[in-house]
Amino acid sequence: MKRVLGTALLCCLPLGAAMGQDNTGPLVGESKAIVKQFMGSLKGELESAMKSGGPINAIDVCNRVAPAIAEQQSADSGWDVARTSLKLRNPDNAPDDWEKGVLEKFEAQKAAGEPVKPMAYYETVEEDGQKVFRFMKAIPTGEVCLKCHGSDLSPEVAAKLDELYPADEAQGFRIGDIRGAFTLKKPL
Ligand code: HEC
Repeated sequence: MKRVLGTALLCCLPLGAAMGQDNTGPLVGESKAIVKQFMGSLKGELESAMKSGGPINAIDVCNRVAPAIAEQQSADSGWDVARTSLKLRNPDNAPDDWEKGVLEKFEAQKAAGEPVKPMAYYETVEEDGQKVFRFMKAIPTGEVCLKCHGSDLSPEVAAKLDELYPADEAQGFRIGDIRGAFTLKKPL
């Protein structure tokens, strides 16, 4: 299972991480599989909602369905699964210190010219005396995201977002920006 540690991830391995622990490889593999599933469900829901009722309808998907999918995935997998960002729409998605540090690291990597899509980072940390494996994967901004996260929102979308998220900071993104990240953790 050690082979699942690709070079892209190895370069992100922090000093002091669980290098010698046999369980890290499978945990990374599991994290990636959960992210893939989460992303797949979200994308499917978003696309069909956009098709059937346009972005206003799809806002509802992001508002209700995204947290529900995250909750369901957490329940199914035994992992804590969520999304976070340095520029938040929903304050419930706020990063903790560790997540903020990783998001800043991703921004620095992007500024150094690295591609956003494969960016990931993991580490075994100690929280309240308990060892916890944590994993994050960057989420790039794509074309479809601009309808709700870009700088040229339709008046209807802008009004709906304003109603649901009066403190919204997640606008003005451009294609290729880091919109945020998936964040996973599991007590060991
Ligand atoms: C139809 C509107 C809409 C579209 C299109 C959309 N989003 Fe969002 N996005 C939202 C809403 C609404 C929320 C707040 C969800 C919540 O309450 O948890 C959100 C939240 C997020 C978050 C969680 C962090 C935060 O700011 O609260 C991320 C990450 C995110 N979106 C990424 C994306 C990406 C990447 C795309 C394109 C693939 C995308 N979104 C497309 C409306 C949209």
